[in-house]
Amino acid sequence: MYEARYSFEDIITQNSIMMELKDIAKRVTKTNSTVLIQGESGTGKELFAHAFHKESLRRHGNFVTLNCAAIPKELLESEVFGYEEGAFTGAKRGGKIGKFELANGGTILLDEIGSMPINLQSKLLRVLESREFERVGGNKRIKLDVRIIASCNENLELSVQKGTFRRDLYYRLNVIKIDIPPLRERIDDIELLAQTMVSKLAIDLQLTPKTVSSEACDRLKSHNWPGNVRELRNVLERALYFATYNIILPEHLPEYINEKGTTPSSQPSLTLKDMVEKTEIDAIKRAIRDANGSKTIAAEMLDIHRTSLYKKIEKYKLTELMD
Ligand SMILES: Nc1ncnc2c1ncn2[C@@H]1O[C@H](COP(=O)(O)OP(=O)(O)OP(=O)(O)O)[C@@H](O)[C@H]1O
Ligand SMILES: [Mg+2]
Repeated sequence: MYEARYSFEDIITQNSIMMELKDIAKRVTKTNSTVLIQGESGTGKELFAHAFHKESLRRHGNFVTLNCAAIPKELLESEVFGYEEGAFTGAKRGGKIGKFELANGGTILLDEIGSMPINLQSKLLRVLESREFERVGGNKRIKLDVRIIASCNENLELSVQKGTFRRDLYYRLNVIKIDIPPLRERIDDIELLAQTMVSKLAIDLQLTPKTVSSEACDRLKSHNWPGNVRELRNVLERALYFATYNIILPEHLPEYINEKGTTPSSQPSLTLKDMVEKTEIDAIKRAIRDANGSKTIAAEMLDIHRTSLYKKIEKYKLTELMD
């Protein structure tokens, strides 16, 4: 349950900056140095963190992830350090072990560290310096034997400048920095990623093997990938279902990948409300077309509930789409 799932081999790349990052990462796996991984959402920060653990001497220990943005502020401290029985109202009998204790002997990934509240940042810094901590409401000192990996999808240095992140903690974490470039800055990776991921996905989804045509690859290369590799994977997964033969063609890609220069911002004569509505109408029409008329699949693709899709169709009087 607390094992790392990926190794460095799973990080697919032929981009020189990425290969250099992988080299640096491999060289420091054997050390205990703290690592800071930065990159936009979907660039592979978690992948790197898994690989760090899996190829380290700590691989037999646990690999524990703590998402600092997903846990309510008030609970974060007890999640990290655990608590003793009676530490606060609602505390479990017998107390609770925290993520640091769980990760002892292994690795902890402090995901989205930029969201950590400032008071907890101070406590974390003290713990990192003293290499000891105690549970909330307890006084037994516990030795910290954990490799710390922090990740962040904003620029932590900017957070320091804005005053939302402690400078001293930033320096403490920033021993080895892995700055993963966004996918649009490594177009040379797109074809390799696409072909490799399509083969792997086909196996996982038990579909017939398929390849990506060079025309489809060209389209993929011209998209700017705000969701990075995660977005690419989702586009390919969808294309695998749409392609009837063993090749993925441009028509199997969502329309927004194929269209260029039709972003709402290129139509300044419209009001914001008009633009939002137009974007919504276009997206609905496209999704229904891409889903071969199935509103259930279209709603899933748009990540909205089916009933809200029906409501929008009615709101915009898209009569051609009404049943
Ligand atoms: N270089 C790569 N090779 C293969 N798969 C990759 C690569 N980079 C990312 N992926 C895949 O893309 C998806 C997103 O990666 P990951 O979860 O590591 O992103 P992240 O940077 O942690 O994103 P977020 O900030 O949203 O948490 C995963 O399925 C991961 O396996
Ligand atoms: Mg992540």
